[in-house]
Amino acid sequence: MSTLAFKFEEIAPRELRPEVYELDGISRASVEAHYKLYQGYVNKRNEILGKLADIDLGSANQVYSELRALKVDLTFAIGGIKNHELYFAHLGGGGGAPTGSFGALVQRDFGSVETWRSDLKATGLAGRGWAWTAYDWDDAQNTFPVWNATPLVALDVYEHAYFLDYQTDRASYIDAFFDNLDWDVVNSWVDRYAIPAR
Ligand SMILES: [Fe+2]
Repeated sequence: MSTLAFKFEEIAPRELRPEVYELDGISRASVEAHYKLYQGYVNKRNEILGKLADIDLGSANQVYSELRALKVDLTFAIGGIKNHELYFAHLGGGGGAPTGSFGALVQRDFGSVETWRSDLKATGLAGRGWAWTAYDWDDAQNTFPVWNATPLVALDVYEHAYFLDYQTDRASYIDAFFDNLDWDVVNSWVDRYAIPAR
């Protein structure tokens, strides 16, 4: 049997900071339900990698359709993990206007906090799943997704993120999201990735 005998390690879901269970306007029940979905992505990723590691490449065509499906599902699971890790990591703060290095980047690249906030909110209302503010390392063409960009704010607008608290009122959920952002966390990312302020 020839296999994709790569090595992989199972990962475990990251614990949430306690503050994330005590948000303003986003209930504990909603965060708990949302966290379960994130755990599901982690489990799915581990499960798919296990299947890929065991796949028998000897049976040609048949195996490639299975392989394709597994790889597509793997990208979905990994995307779900990364997005939610960002999302939960930067909630639990006091919101308000961005401070520090991220605040300076917003001023420089959007002109004002209001412009940035309205832009992300409108994008969140228009989108189906996620809206990000990212630092683009290239002056890129408008490809989708945007490669080589570092997300700094990740807004989940899938219904599961707000339906329990707001039903169809996505706009109010987005306002609550802004109210809970932790600028120290966002600024630690700006610093960690050495995003140039000029
Ligand atoms: Fe989500």
